[in-house]
Amino acid sequence: MTSLTALFAFLSLVTLAYSTDFNPLHHSGPASPYFNAPSQFGVPPSTPAQCKVDQAAYIVRHGSEAFDLGMELRKRYRFTKGGDNFTVWSAGQQRVVDTATYFTLGYLSQGNYLSAPGTNRGQVVTTPDSVNFTFADSLTPSTACPLYSQGDTSAKATTFRGTYQGNIANRLNKFLDGLALDATDIGVMQDLCGFQAEVDGDTRFCDIFDESEWLDYEYAHDLNYYYGSGPGNPFSATVGYPWLKAITELFSSDSNRTQGGGNFVPPPLIMSFTHDNNLPPIVSALGVWNSSALPDVYPLSTVRANPDRTFRSSFLVSFRGYIALERMSCDAHEPPTSVTHTSGQVALGPGASASAQKYVRLRINNAVVPLPGCATGPGASCSLAAFENYVRSRAEVAGDFVARCGLQDVKNATNTLDIFTNVPSELAQSTVLVVPLPYAGLL
Ligand SMILES: *[C@@H]1O[C@H](CO)[C@@H](O)[C@H](O)[C@H]1NC(C)=O
Ligand SMILES: *[C@@H]1O[C@H](CO)[C@@H](O)[C@H](O)[C@H]1NC(C)=O
Ligand SMILES: *[C@@H]1O[C@H](CO)[C@@H](O)[C@H](O)[C@H]1NC(C)=O
Ligand SMILES: *[C@@H]1O[C@H](CO)[C@@H](O)[C@H](O)[C@H]1NC(C)=O
Ligand SMILES: *[C@@H]1O[C@H](CO)[C@@H](O)[C@H](O)[C@H]1NC(C)=O
Repeated sequence: MTSLTALFAFLSLVTLAYSTDFNPLHHSGPASPYFNAPSQFGVPPSTPAQCKVDQAAYIVRHGSEAFDLGMELRKRYRFTKGGDNFTVWSAGQQRVVDTATYFTLGYLSQGNYLSAPGTNRGQVVTTPDSVNFTFADSLTPSTACPLYSQGDTSAKATTFRGTYQGNIANRLNKFLDGLALDATDIGVMQDLCGFQAEVDGDTRFCDIFDESEWLDYEYAHDLNYYYGSGPGNPFSATVGYPWLKAITELFSSDSNRTQGGGNFVPPPLIMSFTHDNNLPPIVSALGVWNSSALPDVYPLSTVRANPDRTFRSSFLVSFRGYIALERMSCDAHEPPTSVTHTSGQVALGPGASASAQKYVRLRINNAVVPLPGCATGPGASCSLAAFENYVRSRAEVAGDFVARCGLQDVKNATNTLDIFTNVPSELAQSTVLVVPLPYAGLL
């Protein structure tokens, strides 16, 4: 407590060394509160004018105000009419289930929970969190791949931190009397910028460090995720692929989405909630942010941040960060700028013409990320047929979950995520929570 008081006492002595448009909260990796990532590829995130999103799948890290995301997506897609029930999927740890629950409450917030308790209900399907007995049938599958931890070389981030944390401590110690910081204090102090901002809006820790110190801190996070759970871990794509495959199958079956003998038809918006380390494997499975066309950039240098990299932890694993796949139905041309309305005739919206075609688009923390070699559709999207081929080609990189993880002789080991079409799923050991809980006194 004394140290904290002393720290805050000297905060006002430290002048801001960064330009006014530099925001440390956009460079804090997993400690960043949610913000829309900038468009690294120059593609606007809004749905192209000739398209309508008809199906979407999100995998989201836990974080605060998830309620807003629920309202935002309800309005973005307009999939759910008033009075419908809605189902989401969540890893089982409390903070993840809480995020899924708040999202669902936001999504259903226009509804009337009290007088119509049979409608406007949410179901949160939860899967056991970070266990090793549900294999690929999980929203935290890396724990069930025994070889995954051998592929994790995130210690490279620790080595990189060693190159700058001591220098920061020395700089700050010049401002301190009766308190000496060492390298091990710096990481926590930089973490507190984002965490305090997320918890209660207090950003005083953000003011202590200068721009280059934030960029080093951010790059250490990039190395941690790239080599720990992202494309630099050879088992990353393996554990991310089952989610991608399950979603691709749901996107590709037009009218009948109850596949593989499933008992459940998921809603057109398929929401999965999980932890930070479960997002980079999806990036790996998708083969983005790791272009072999940029040999000087990937794999990420362990000594120097290359500004040309698109793999940025701050744009992915921020609180409530997400990866979204949107299936769009698109007309051949943009709609006319004026519409003539005729009594008795409903004007078709975008994507509703007889010749409309299906496309898939990837958005990460809002920003559009083109798939390498598959981005010639509207808004840098990929035609659905080409997307299916693309995902099949990624299977070769990912390998089979059971075989690549060395689980051939393990009973019940599965390479398939079936939770979206089996509710509950026996292999995934999923369970169902109803939200909001029916109000006992009113039923
Ligand atoms: C909605 O969910 C509630 C609670 O699970 C259930 O009682 C009700 O039958 C569901 N309504 C519809 C229309 O599916
Ligand atoms: C799961 O973890 C338990 C406890 O660490 C261990 O005994 C068991 O062998 C593991 N199972 C698999 C399939 O790795
Ligand atoms: C990422 O890029 C590196 C370097 O090109 C490559 O060795 C690795 O296999 C790639 N990872 C994935 C998941 O595609
Ligand atoms: C959809 O799938 C279910 C379950 O496999 C099957 O019973 C049903 O006939 C299918 N419907 C259509 C239209 O294919
Ligand atoms: C395999 O799954 C079944 C059904 O869920 C379960 O009863 C059994 O205990 C599992 N076996 C092992 C070794 O985990």
